[in-house]
Amino acid sequence: MSGIGGITLDGISKRYDNGLQAIDTVDLALPAGSFTSIVGPSGCGKSTLLRIIAGLVEPSTGRCLRGAGTPAFVFQEPALLPWRTVEGNVRLLMELEDWATSDCRARAAEVQRQVGLGGFERAYPHELSGGMRMRLSLARALALRPDLLLLDEPLAAVDELTRDLLQEQLSQLWQGAGFTAVLVTHNVHEALFLSERVVVMAPRPGRVVRVFDVPFAFPRAPELRASPAFAALAGQVSATLRASTTIQGQS
Ligand SMILES: Nc1ncnc2c1ncn2[C@@H]1O[C@H](COP(=O)(O)OP(=O)(O)O)[C@@H](O)[C@H]1O
Ligand SMILES: [Mg+2]
Repeated sequence: MSGIGGITLDGISKRYDNGLQAIDTVDLALPAGSFTSIVGPSGCGKSTLLRIIAGLVEPSTGRCLRGAGTPAFVFQEPALLPWRTVEGNVRLLMELEDWATSDCRARAAEVQRQVGLGGFERAYPHELSGGMRMRLSLARALALRPDLLLLDEPLAAVDELTRDLLQEQLSQLWQGAGFTAVLVTHNVHEALFLSERVVVMAPRPGRVVRVFDVPFAFPRAPELRASPAFAALAGQVSATLRASTTIQGQS
């Protein structure tokens, strides 16, 4: 049912040990190979839900069914090893999995090229821009060919031009590799450009208020962002977000 990389969330809730109800009942099916974004205000449980999907957090009720395969995570903070070069950081997980040195080298070169880091193999993280550090974090996550890629606001700290370009490259990578992707973002345009579906969450307690299908065909041209249909759907998603947040008397 969930297939390789596919996810089924069945009546998931999460109450933390301090009594905080972070997530009320969530039911979602994310087909293998799909790209889903989760948007919602701070504190509505997006990261908690992503961690449950990753198997890093146990839900209090319900089940999370994951297909076979290992998840890979990309966070807003790239968490790179400062004493390792770009290539050394990309190779880290392969080395931990005992890949042969020649395989590590070939795969590192491949993913570095895919994320646009070719030629920077010998640079150290402190020599890279924020956008390049994010590329490196993405390359490291992709190196092991994950079936499931979980992204927690990876582009939130990147400038707008770089962000657009990274979205386009991420979309191409996803179309080429076929992994299941779940992206948490504050940015409605980012969610719409990348995803097949956008899940809108509301806070206190965190829950899904609406799921939007995003009908635009892939590959998506950068110009899509300026189209009336894109703007109209962005308006609908933003209105849903606003309504679900203000009902609670917040902001
Ligand atoms: N480990 C934890 N223990 C207790 N409360 C937590 C923990 N992690 C998150 N929370 C709380 O759960 C709620 C949802 O957090 P989170 O999933 O990080 O939301 P988001 O990613 O949407 O900002 C917040 O109120 C947060 O303070
Ligand atoms: Mg979060």
